[in-house]
Amino acid sequence: MCGIVGYVGGQQAAPLLLEGLTRLEHRGYDSSGVAVLGSSGIKVAKQAGRVRDLADGLPKRFGGKVGIGHTRWATHGPANDANAHPHTDAKGDVAVVHNGIIDNAAALRRQLTDDGVDLVSDTDTEVIAHLVAHSEADSLEGRVRDALAVIDGTYGVAVMHADFPDRIVVARNGSPLIIGVGEREMHVASDLAALVRYTTTIAHLDDGEMATVTASGFTTYKQDLSSTHKQATTIDVDPDAYDAGDHESYMHKEIREQPEAAERVLRGRLDERFGTAHLGGLNMDARETRAIRRVKILGCGSAYYVGQMGAGLVEELARIPADAEAASEFRYRNPIIEPDTLYVAVSQSGETIDTLLAVQEIRRKGGRVIGLVNVVGSAIARECDGGIYLHAGPEVAVASTKALTNMFLGFALLALQLGRVRDLSVADGKRLIAGLTRLPDQIGQVLAREDTLAEIAAGLAEAESLFFVGRVRGFPVAREGAQKFKEISYRHAEAYQTSELKHGPLALISPEVPTVAVVPHDELTDRNVAALHEIAARRGPLVVVTHEDVDLGELEAVRIDVPRNEVELDPILLTLPLQLLAYHAATHLGHDIDKPRNLAKSVTVE
Ligand code: G6P
Repeated sequence: MCGIVGYVGGQQAAPLLLEGLTRLEHRGYDSSGVAVLGSSGIKVAKQAGRVRDLADGLPKRFGGKVGIGHTRWATHGPANDANAHPHTDAKGDVAVVHNGIIDNAAALRRQLTDDGVDLVSDTDTEVIAHLVAHSEADSLEGRVRDALAVIDGTYGVAVMHADFPDRIVVARNGSPLIIGVGEREMHVASDLAALVRYTTTIAHLDDGEMATVTASGFTTYKQDLSSTHKQATTIDVDPDAYDAGDHESYMHKEIREQPEAAERVLRGRLDERFGTAHLGGLNMDARETRAIRRVKILGCGSAYYVGQMGAGLVEELARIPADAEAASEFRYRNPIIEPDTLYVAVSQSGETIDTLLAVQEIRRKGGRVIGLVNVVGSAIARECDGGIYLHAGPEVAVASTKALTNMFLGFALLALQLGRVRDLSVADGKRLIAGLTRLPDQIGQVLAREDTLAEIAAGLAEAESLFFVGRVRGFPVAREGAQKFKEISYRHAEAYQTSELKHGPLALISPEVPTVAVVPHDELTDRNVAALHEIAARRGPLVVVTHEDVDLGELEAVRIDVPRNEVELDPILLTLPLQLLAYHAATHLGHDIDKPRNLAKSVTVE
């Protein structure tokens, strides 16, 4: 949530900062701003709206070779020009950009007001600028340290000061900050996406760490200013992976990338001989694996729904009781942490604060947590005892698609490994491995029907309100389908167990309220079809995502067939058409696909 960029070097900073902000816009996009430090001091341009509005409105004279920038997702105060970052002190000598939340902002704001400071925004961040300005330390590092010393909360922060014109000081506590090393120039960003076009030689700051960045290099230190001697390393990333290429949106690109992404998460992890999975990163031997009595999965949003699919896989394949819970709720009910429970945190970004705090709560109570995480080296990945990297590649669109698919496959691998040290037979293990191997190709087959799905989606987009229904394996699929639909089409989409319809929601069924039903070929097909007849009898329009050999009888419905795999793996193939329905409904309605209103890609505040 929110993005930070910074630059120090021989070039004009503003164009580089604006380019970096464009690449971070998925993290927050209600307002943005840049500050540059030139011969006449600090200049700031900031406003509500998108980065392109900021770029269009930038003053002609905006020179400076040191600069910081920010794209915001409002927490304290509405999205207006005054609340946009960077924030400055009264004299305009200090400029600050900040991600995170300052918990004692109200008290600090009161104190500053009592001291005669005129606060010009509603933000928590503004206090940092004033605190830095008020410090009497003789270095910028000392002044930032003094400011941070009185702050409680989370931050990734970058600070410039007119009296120290060669540098930016950055600090991290809970919000990522990365330094990128160039040729006699240095970059700063909260996300790799803003750096990879300039450099792949980077250093991640740790929590509690600060750094001074000048054109010639950087130094890192703790808040007591003792050195941490951090060195930059060169990482292996393809900068093109961060571009949308020929696709009209990142979401479209990411949907279409799923066959290759699925291959990557499976690569090297299938053991055909023993019919099991190899997951070296779990850091658990067979004895420890056998001792697991329960699996508890935690995630937010789509990661929570795929967690429900994962719980189903674990129960079916390993016969271990498993369930998923929203990480955002877990910590607040003083959860009982058991030594023989395996906790699994699921997160694309590895940054979602609720999931991170859940991991910390479990570990504080002595529980074992593994992570299913996409972003390598992210906070959740680092906090866990072990895990499975998802190798989906960078995911930029707010609505998760390829990462979600790889989460499902990560769960399939985990369930297979857990199952094979227990009662899952070699034959079943091999059956599932064959199924997993077929999946990337079958994913491609579903995506190839995009044109048909686009037509169906245009019809659904007309409805103000929709139901998504499924049972058992199909229910989390329906939940994920409704989530995707509502977040990008802004239509009211509600997921229900098909079996629960007659206990309430059937009252809402009418010709104006379509139902998207998930009906796999499994032991519940007949019951599912019977429930769909009840909807049809109330003249509710139906779209049925199903398998070719499912007989819908006389049912009047638009039918979407997906290929069959092994019954346990079918949920992911059933999920794919729902991604495309949401995508094309939102496109039909003319919405900004990658940046749905009010949302942000990584939710790093509680
Ligand atoms: C946000 C996004 C969702 C995502 C969730 C979890 O709410 O809008 O699409 O599923 O965060 O993100 P994570 O990075 O932890 O998977």
